[in-house]
Amino acid sequence: MIYLDNAATTPVLPEVVEVMSDTLLTTFGNPSSIHSYGRVAFQTVRQSREAIAQALQVSARQITFTSGASESNNTAIIGYALAHRKLGNHIVTTAIEHPSVINTVQYLHDRHGFDITFVQPEPDGSVSADSIKNALRPDTILVSMMWSNNETGQLLPVSEVGEILSHHQAVFHVDATQVMGKIPVHPLEIKADFVSASGHKFHGPKGVGFLYHADLLFDPLIHGGEQEEKRRAGTENLHSLVGMAKALQISVAHMRENYEKVEQLKTHLFEQISDLTFYKNEFGKSMPHVVNLAFPEQNHDLLLTKLDLAGIAISTGSACTAGTIEPSHVLASIYGESSPKLKENIRISFSELNTIDEIDEFAIKLKNALK
Ligand SMILES: Cc1ncc(COP(=O)(O)O)c(C=O)c1O
Repeated sequence: MIYLDNAATTPVLPEVVEVMSDTLLTTFGNPSSIHSYGRVAFQTVRQSREAIAQALQVSARQITFTSGASESNNTAIIGYALAHRKLGNHIVTTAIEHPSVINTVQYLHDRHGFDITFVQPEPDGSVSADSIKNALRPDTILVSMMWSNNETGQLLPVSEVGEILSHHQAVFHVDATQVMGKIPVHPLEIKADFVSASGHKFHGPKGVGFLYHADLLFDPLIHGGEQEEKRRAGTENLHSLVGMAKALQISVAHMRENYEKVEQLKTHLFEQISDLTFYKNEFGKSMPHVVNLAFPEQNHDLLLTKLDLAGIAISTGSACTAGTIEPSHVLASIYGESSPKLKENIRISFSELNTIDEIDEFAIKLKNALK
């Protein structure tokens, strides 16, 4: 099998598995217990938080552990909006966000009466900082924007938007899930107030993530005990957050070489398929680990099935319900809801663990599947 779906999730590194199983076996105390087992577990949580804070160049008290980027996004958006309603009723986001942002702001609209502006991409697919600026109103309290799109890899202008928002009351939430561990993510540099991430996108375990937050108030989603400074109740997922911290440390330490390796894989893929007729769903500057392309009049469901049978795991990047691929809301916002292109997109996503040989084999199997 060749795994080329790293934007969906990444294999867990052996070093990560090792620290996780070690934690499970030896550090089973409850971090809230006052005896020595608890104190050791508490120290372990503290060290993991410090490791993550160090990678982001922020202070440890600004990191809250969550169950993943979906929860981080929900916490930042719902938690901030409900706590600061007196400042205004308007939220700005983009039409190409992950469902964990789109459906969250939609919930705030439907259940709590917030006004939401979904900024649409330009005809060339780009999302401009100016279009965010134009959407701002005096009563805007929050702007939520992804750093890189999970379906196309497209990079959004987070630094420019952070700068614009430094002159506005609205806080800035950045969903950094697809860039964490791959490029430097320093919330202070991009003037972000919230940053979300998920451990399993950078070779950590699933079901664990974190939220960076500036020193501001937001309501918890989960009420209960006093864990996470009362920002998120529940006994800590100790082994997972140890694994996530280890995975981030490793990713950050090898960031440049991993990035270059993934760039080479992308270049090599395009060399290997240069004889095919295809178009790219690429909209401006992108992260190299995601390639979204399409073969005219080739249905992606069929192509994905043929490739799966041939031992290749790729995806379309868009949501899947009951095994059926839903049309991409990202591409729909660019090409229109009825475009035939919505049935053609495939997403190939790399990690540094992939090899040139795997790309060669993928190219051969892709050509066979297209015959
Ligand atoms: C950009 C982006 N945001 C949020 C998420 C949600 O992450 P999780 O499913 O780990 O909660 C994903 C996962 O694909 C993502 O790509």
